[in-house]
Amino acid sequence: RVVAVIMLGGPTKGTRFRPLSLNIPKPLFPLAGQPMVHHPISACKRIPDLAQIYLIGFYEEREFALYVSSISNELKVPVRYLREDKPHGSAGGLYNFRDLIMEDNPSHIFLLNCDVCCSFPLPGMLDAHRRYGGMGTILVTKVSAESANQFGELVADPTTNELLHYTEKPETFVSDLINCGVYIFTPDIFTTIQNVSTQRKDRANLRRMSSFEALQSATKTIPTDFVRLDQDILSPLAGKKQLYIYKNMDFWEQIKTPGMSLRCSALYLTQFRFTSPHLLAQGDGAKNATIIGNVYVHPSAKVHPTAKIGPDVSISANARIAAGVRLINCIILDDVEIKENAVVIHSIVGWKSSIGKWSRVQGEGNCNSKLGITILGEAVTVEDEVVIISSIVLPNKALNVSVQEEIIL
Ligand code: GDD
Repeated sequence: RVVAVIMLGGPTKGTRFRPLSLNIPKPLFPLAGQPMVHHPISACKRIPDLAQIYLIGFYEEREFALYVSSISNELKVPVRYLREDKPHGSAGGLYNFRDLIMEDNPSHIFLLNCDVCCSFPLPGMLDAHRRYGGMGTILVTKVSAESANQFGELVADPTTNELLHYTEKPETFVSDLINCGVYIFTPDIFTTIQNVSTQRKDRANLRRMSSFEALQSATKTIPTDFVRLDQDILSPLAGKKQLYIYKNMDFWEQIKTPGMSLRCSALYLTQFRFTSPHLLAQGDGAKNATIIGNVYVHPSAKVHPTAKIGPDVSISANARIAAGVRLINCIILDDVEIKENAVVIHSIVGWKSSIGKWSRVQGEGNCNSKLGITILGEAVTVEDEVVIISSIVLPNKALNVSVQEEIIL
């Protein structure tokens, strides 16, 4: 049997995701109309003999209760949220719940970061992992040499696929092959994590006994139960015939900023063409709005037939889109009102916001730069005929003059 674990992190980890993470835990932010974590969860459904999906994080339990019960019913696979009392690191968090995870007596454990966007080729990884016969297999992808230092860089044997060398976010370039944050392990991973934390305890004790100075530095070291998967497990195990790689052939992105969430929403909408075409809107321009490219519209949203929507737009629950509105590459969140003839391009419009008649909310479209898209936080009011360009607006602001490249606090 197989168990899947998705690492969610917690409120202190999603700070680059502000202002959107002020309202909702980052893993529940909608991409292509579905919570971020929904995409890896539905990919897990394709794993043969899957017993359980665990979500591990240090968010409040109640924040995930509703989602977890509805997704369990929908998928017919038990999904459970496990709350850490404090951050234990990406491997420590997993270790913390080892007894529960081992209850199903799994032969394999998938471990997925929740903030990556890809098609999660899990069954293929499982087959490869069985062939390699190691303790773990890591999904890897090629990125540009300039961006590689934001990730774990690695070197693998081109014929055996063994992981030979691993460095987390190195200062000097190692390789453009990087860790995608998607893994499969045998239960031996728990012993490995335990060894790291025991070694750390021993070292701390040794220092404490040797001298006062050493004691001072020992108190500054990381807690013994905090274990990072990358630095503490993958790096030391590289080149020991225990870890192997599996190459990702499809799209892959990391979702740390609102800009990246807009890009990933578009990637998932494109994927829906192949996996869930029924979720994409079909407009006819008569009774329904004109739809261009990939668009998601929640069934409760109201879109006027003269609106023109797409490509790459997702519209959440109870949004109201008036006559003559034009939407391109944007995420419109719950309860937003967009009034007549307004235009929204390369932007995220926060919950309950309102955009006035003939107004324009626009970004330049570069998802990697801070002001590359416009973000309106919750309950922002843009008055009629106001133009907001490449700006970030914090919740509850009312804008009656036009702004460009500003952060409005
Ligand atoms: N539950 C829990 N507890 N989750 C955690 C904790 C923790 O203490 N710490 C991190 N996470 C989760 C994060 O939410 C994220 O999903 C994942 O674990 C990895 O987070 P980080 O350890 O902050 O690393 P990163 O996202 O900067 O980089 C990792 O992922 C990249 C791929 O996206 C590294 O593994 C990189 O090598 C990799 O390229």
